Amino acid sequence: MIKAEEAGRPASPVAFGALESEHASLRSLAEGLERRLASLARAGRSVDGAAETESRAALSVFRRQLVDHFAHEEEGGLLDLAAATAPRLADRIEGLRAQHDELRARVDALVDEAAADAWERLAERFAALRGDLLEHERVENEMMQSAYLEDLGGRG
Ligand SMILES: [Fe+2]
Ligand SMILES: [Fe+2]
Repeated sequence: MIKAEEAGRPASPVAFGALESEHASLRSLAEGLERRLASLARAGRSVDGAAETESRAALSVFRRQLVDHFAHEEEGGLLDLAAATAPRLADRIEGLRAQHDELRARVDALVDEAAADAWERLAERFAALRGDLLEHERVENEMMQSAYLEDLGGRG
């Protein structure tokens, strides 16, 4: 947790770079996984066992990466830095934290559904999760950028 007195340390371009590269990696994993799940959902009863196993594994990888990414944002203090740099963003930042909890719970539920081979429902729910995650990350990128610009302005 970063304290308010450390607010002089700006949310640097390096921190943004790391955040954006994690976002890009998650986006690409999620895109591939959505394609896999859609194809399993279409296969119906003639679904291939190997494809099911691969999809379960891909979902686990995605879940791990998502959980780690949220932890970096929470524990690495990026959200705290943004809050300290631009206090007017505090409410939005709280909203983003709450979304982490919600998205984590949803991806856990999807892992359970994959274990039960509920591919059609899973494909639908994963697509919805991906849409919400993209929106979450978009708001985050925008907010971090805005906190950074505000910090530059404050120092200039
Ligand atoms: Fe986030
Ligand atoms: Fe993020």
